[in-house]
Amino acid sequence: AATELGHYRHYMQKEIFEQPKAVADTMQHLGNSFDPAAFGAEAENIFRSINKVQIIACGTSFNAGSIAKYWIEEFANLECAVDIASEYRYRKIPANKDTLVISISQSGETADTMASIKYAIELGMVNTLAICNVPESSLIRLSKLKVLTQAGPEIGVASTKAFTTQLVVLLYLAFTLAKVRGELANEAELIEQIRRLPHMVVEALSVEDEIKQIAKEFEYKHNALFLGRHTMAPVAMEGALKLKEISYIHAESYAAGELKHGPLALIDKDMPVIVAMPHNLLADKVKSNVQEVLARQGQVYLFTDKEDELSKQCYRTIVIQAKGIPPYLAPIIYTIPMQLLAYHTAIAKGTDVDKPRNLAKSVTVE
Ligand code: G6P
Repeated sequence: AATELGHYRHYMQKEIFEQPKAVADTMQHLGNSFDPAAFGAEAENIFRSINKVQIIACGTSFNAGSIAKYWIEEFANLECAVDIASEYRYRKIPANKDTLVISISQSGETADTMASIKYAIELGMVNTLAICNVPESSLIRLSKLKVLTQAGPEIGVASTKAFTTQLVVLLYLAFTLAKVRGELANEAELIEQIRRLPHMVVEALSVEDEIKQIAKEFEYKHNALFLGRHTMAPVAMEGALKLKEISYIHAESYAAGELKHGPLALIDKDMPVIVAMPHNLLADKVKSNVQEVLARQGQVYLFTDKEDELSKQCYRTIVIQAKGIPPYLAPIIYTIPMQLLAYHTAIAKGTDVDKPRNLAKSVTVE
């Protein structure tokens, strides 16, 4: 059955390695074009009528939403706000009825997320879309539009395959919004690129042995700083969240451009700094941030797609093997080694990977 461990030691490990299939199943569920009908019968009209997107979620699902903001603004040319549900629900919200209100939730039962969507509906913002992994959940029943991630049951408290499948749905959503709104020229080319995603996930998983070595070093760390720019900033957030959740190492994430505004003060030879840096448009900006860390003897763990002059100066470089990753797929791919780092660090420390202390899989009370 889907909930059996098989030859895996932990559910989290099983769920990390199920990602190629979970991602492929979710892509198949969405179809081989950017079809608004995949989001519900009324989706096309709603997508055409809106002038804003508001994403609401908690935890890992919030991190997925934070990545989606970049996609929706870039591809669909639509304003996109992202809020933590526990903040949204208690704030005065100017009611813009032409907002698409998106909730993201693995369980569909998170109390704050549910309350936020009810609040938005009370304010007259009735165009709601739920992205959820559990059919018949409270959130699915509440929302006008819905898409189910095809991750299968997720048991490990630290979310992995739910996150990457949420990203798949959100990427299709960004392209679908773009298409409906006349902003998309190259649908066939994009579909062709995305088709290779499950294989890229397989390739990204192949860094596991290297990550195991690095995890042995992290066993003795008390702090870690994760950095990235653009969509890699929320990938850094998710990397830090995974590490703290299951290995109990204090981990922080920062948009790399904020380094000078505080975290640089923490850098010394004992501070591991994990940097997600695909060679894209902003790579030079990230490189100068890495130089700032190196100049203060920080231990840089560089996650990148090829070796270069900079990588030689870093303490460790982890080259993601997936070839030809389009920039918009990089956040999905770069998440994988972050998950493996958290998992193997937790193994090295002997913590309860699937049931970390004090945490619950689903937070159904406030
Ligand atoms: C809890 C879980 C996290 C999850 C968050 C949001 O904190 O431990 O893994 O990301 O809730 O849950 P949801 O089901 O709404 O995605």
